[in-house]
Amino acid sequence: MYGSLKGKDYISTQDWSKEELELALEKAAELKFMFKNGIPHRFLPDKTIFLLFFDKSTRTRNSFEAGITQLGGHAHFIEASTSQIAHGESPKDTGIILSSYGHGIAIRHDLVPGEGNAYMREIARWADKPVINMQCDVDHPCQTLADLMTIRERFGKNLRGLKIAVSWAYAPSYAKPLSVPQGLIMLMTRFGLDVTLAHPPEFKLMDSVMEIARKNAQEAGVKFEVVDDMDAAFENADIVYPKSWGIESLFHKPEEALAVAKKYQDWICDQRRMKLARPEAIYMHCLPADRGNEVTDEVIDGPQSVVYQEAENRLHTCKAIMALTM
Ligand code: CP
Repeated sequence: MYGSLKGKDYISTQDWSKEELELALEKAAELKFMFKNGIPHRFLPDKTIFLLFFDKSTRTRNSFEAGITQLGGHAHFIEASTSQIAHGESPKDTGIILSSYGHGIAIRHDLVPGEGNAYMREIARWADKPVINMQCDVDHPCQTLADLMTIRERFGKNLRGLKIAVSWAYAPSYAKPLSVPQGLIMLMTRFGLDVTLAHPPEFKLMDSVMEIARKNAQEAGVKFEVVDDMDAAFENADIVYPKSWGIESLFHKPEEALAVAKKYQDWICDQRRMKLARPEAIYMHCLPADRGNEVTDEVIDGPQSVVYQEAENRLHTCKAIMALTM
């Protein structure tokens, strides 16, 4: 089975079967154990991955760079803005050439709805090495796999009957991509969780993604509901995942999206809201979080928060994806 994933792109969790995702989670757990116990795990000796960024990053860049080093390989960090991509070099040429120099290409291209996912798939069409999505406009599959790993570490493998609240939250810093909540509603509906999505009316997710989430929920026999009330989403939730995102039609006018968001400054995860969830509920956030806006310090630094475990699991899951596909 491991061999069968060699060369496979990881652009959306939706592109992988449940069995393949299970394998990635198993591999991530094995790699976490080895890392924590100082056991060498150079499964990708002398291999090179190209990390191509159209946007900023802390966790993703560093988990991939540290991860490939620990696997015995090497990463090249490429900013689109300082490469020939900025002069218009095509994804075809970029994909063919980078894949001829190394063993994998990972891409972050998340800020323009309609562009990032299409760009990655075009690179993947021409590259003869695996392409890994480090966050696009549609999905953030490295993040959501780490999230699923974190949820299972807390609640076990059988998540049936548990509720996750994926909620919009207010943030003034910038119009954040839609891909994390979208990735969550696509993936968590496949793995047994009842999913409640909450957002103000203007902050809808992409229609195509909503359709996939509904279909996934139906096939898995779980609930998928949408509400416009953060409190309602939090009620009796086992997992709360409140975070900000922008307005699909306004990513080219971010100041307008931020002005709309200002109407909903009370969409914050605070202790009052945490008390609406179940007593053993966990608080999750992909980070970076707008402290004091998306969430209070009391919650994110409190006993229900698993954000650092979640961020750490980015390392183990991205290593699993690289080890399996490259
Ligand atoms: N969660 C996440 O993707 O973090 P970075 O933007 O820092 O990579």
